[in-house]
Amino acid sequence: MKRYMDVALAICAAVFAGSIGAASLQPIPTLSEQDFKKAQFIYFDRCSDCHGALRKGATGPNITPAKTLKKTLAKLDKVLFDGTDGGMPGWGRDGFMTHEETALMAKYVQIEPPMPPEWGMKEMMASWKVHVPVKDRPAKPPKGKNWLNYFGVVLRDVGKISIIDGDTKEVLTTIPSGFATHILRTSASGRYMFAIGRDGKATMMDMWAEPPNLVAEVRTGIDARSIDTSKFKGFEDKYAVVGDYWPPHYVIMEGDTLKPIKIVGTRGYTYDTNEYHPEPRVASIVSSHLEWRQLFLLIMHQSGCST
Ligand code: HEC
Repeated sequence: MKRYMDVALAICAAVFAGSIGAASLQPIPTLSEQDFKKAQFIYFDRCSDCHGALRKGATGPNITPAKTLKKTLAKLDKVLFDGTDGGMPGWGRDGFMTHEETALMAKYVQIEPPMPPEWGMKEMMASWKVHVPVKDRPAKPPKGKNWLNYFGVVLRDVGKISIIDGDTKEVLTTIPSGFATHILRTSASGRYMFAIGRDGKATMMDMWAEPPNLVAEVRTGIDARSIDTSKFKGFEDKYAVVGDYWPPHYVIMEGDTLKPIKIVGTRGYTYDTNEYHPEPRVASIVSSHLEWRQLFLLIMHQSGCST
């Protein structure tokens, strides 16, 4: 009996020691300022989409230090380099990151995420530029051009938009937009094209100019995904709206100059369990064309509803 108990105790001790081993946290790594900045940029560029700016999780899981410090650097690096069948891309395997970079990111995710800066009206106004005031813009469409058949092509990695004449296939011009430009939308009349960069920079281009040109820009936040303008009757091109991932807000602007008018925060409580979420992000914005429905549809992530 005694022998049996000794064995049982030994097993308990082993299990206990094992569970302590698994739960014990790894030491927090340190990074030079330069490496930290590099990792911060890679995170913004490649990871925040799925894991959220604060790493609290979005389509990907929560990867705050409370979770990541339970894993070894080698294990995290392997997930980063090779990816998983559960949806984590293999950054090294697919050739997007070097081994040094995945090792750097493994360390970075074990360090507390830096709080991205806020971006309010003061910052927006300081970034707002009207390159061509409304009164100096052409009063008529360009002669002999089928401008309604112009189309824009996003050159994502260089942060530019090419405007192409759909009839002749001629590239009329290439206009700088935000970092990693996300989408393009047209105004109600089709005269203006709007672009939004991942860095929150909104740009407005005039198809009546020869060649089309940049007429206004404003930085609406740190990280953004969508823009649209009012299309409903009586409000054609009166307002533009940008939705940001960070800060979690949307901004209503003048439709002809992009001057910010109002910022509306989207941080708050999930609609079902009423849990506070610091980062409900505005993903897509679609403007209604219907006369009796003067609204914008904002698709939100994390809050569990659309507004
Ligand atoms: C397309 C969405 C997506 C992107 C982009 C993405 N991840 Fe992931 N990530 C996931 C998913 C989904 C998982 C969970 C995988 C699983 O359970 O198999 C995951 C898992 C992880 C894990 C492991 C978490 C754990 O507890 O095991 C880490 C660490 C991680 N991601 C870091 C990153 C970093 C750093 C980047 C940017 C370089 C990144 N991810 C980009 C979707 C993504």
